[in-house]
Amino acid sequence: MDILRLGDETLRQKAEPVKPIGPEYRQIAAEMIKALHDGRGIGLAGPQVGLLKRIFVVHVEDDLPRVFINPSIIGTSQEEARYEEGCLSIPGMYAEVTRPVSVKVQAWNERGRPFTLEADGILGRVILHEYDHLEGVLFIDRLSEPKRNSLMRKYENRKKA
Ligand code: NI
Repeated sequence: MDILRLGDETLRQKAEPVKPIGPEYRQIAAEMIKALHDGRGIGLAGPQVGLLKRIFVVHVEDDLPRVFINPSIIGTSQEEARYEEGCLSIPGMYAEVTRPVSVKVQAWNERGRPFTLEADGILGRVILHEYDHLEGVLFIDRLSEPKRNSLMRKYENRKKA
């Protein structure tokens, strides 16, 4: 699986629900987890590999890889925090993003089993970041305009170099 980069229109489209969650999703999830590991990332969403379906995988330290299909954000904390984020589709770029500290999510795994998870820390953050990808939203969209512009200039310069 190749990871699409910023500028690819697929990253800006809204992903469609997976219906039904067929056995092929075990293979798709396994390939996404492999691409995630190859890219040394902690989260990867379907649109990033050209799959406009509501699926993402996350793998944070001291945890097993997790697969989220058709996720719903049931709730988020009032409290927010700033934390540095990056994205496999915008390699080498990092910025502090403000998000809720914790999130409650309901989803199905690659075997079609439903689950509910409450997460905070890095896991909570990566879930919110990947969920954004399903809506065509990138972390740079959550920066102030001056910060986004300066990050984009840096990114363009690096691409030219
Ligand atoms: Ni990302």
